[in-house]
Amino acid sequence: MITRLKNALRGTLLGWKKHPPVAGRNWHPTWLPLDIPFGRESEAHPHSPEERAELFLAHNTGSTEIETLNWLHATICLTKATCILETGSLDGLGTIALAAACRDNGLGKVHSVEIDPAACERLVSRMQRYGLANYVEVHCSGSLEFLQKTDLVFDFGFFDSLCDIRAEEYCICLDRKIIQGIAAFHDTSAHRTKSLLNDPPVAVHNEYRRKIHELARDPRNSGYFEHILSRGLFVIFPEPAAPPPPPETHCLASVEP
Ligand SMILES: C[S@@+](CC[C@H](N)C(=O)[O-])C[C@H]1O[C@@H](n2cnc3c(N)ncnc32)[C@H](O)[C@@H]1O
Repeated sequence: MITRLKNALRGTLLGWKKHPPVAGRNWHPTWLPLDIPFGRESEAHPHSPEERAELFLAHNTGSTEIETLNWLHATICLTKATCILETGSLDGLGTIALAAACRDNGLGKVHSVEIDPAACERLVSRMQRYGLANYVEVHCSGSLEFLQKTDLVFDFGFFDSLCDIRAEEYCICLDRKIIQGIAAFHDTSAHRTKSLLNDPPVAVHNEYRRKIHELARDPRNSGYFEHILSRGLFVIFPEPAAPPPPPETHCLASVEP
């Protein structure tokens, strides 16, 4: 009864803020602040037809698609990762999805590493505005330098800085044993350079894809999956942790004949 009353009050207060359907879809993830507008990915970012961008939603060209952000949020809610790395924050959409998952889990922190001081400042105030400041630490630094020095050990990584350096970021994490969980790489679509000629250049993007495929086969990892639509997402899974030792006594051993 109290919950129904609360929901009715919330509906009355927020009703006027509700967005109309976007691209025919009446979907607004609950973790996404209502004042962040979004539209069709096909209008926000260049694509070739194979990438089916018309099926996806995005805030702007530089920010991750809403579907990918929603996957990040759901994956953190499922895995209960507590020490989360993000390289490259820009307008903070990835940070919001990850930090909102920490808030929804009641534990965890996102370490967002961004090289641009203006973007870092915007991110800090944005996190305060959305009540997420307790779940985020902004590191205003180049990602490679940060990862070479940090004492943190991450149980989830979202690699989203420059395509040119994302594989190197992950290599540092593996070599320094500072990542023990899922690693997700954005902008991995094999078709990207058909519509984006120089961001990055073809050779750099091919090298990015070659390196992450190679890293996925590294014996320190156990597998991967590749999402091939829109901007693409490549996810590498770590070697599973060793199973706990068996209990010392079998439950039947204590049963008297
Ligand atoms: C694709 S945007 C990040 C988008 C964001 N993660 C999201 O989910 O919406 C890339 C960001 O990486 C930052 N960047 C570029 N080089 C970097 C580096 N070496 N270290 C850290 N951040 C870097 C850029 O300033 C930019 O803000």
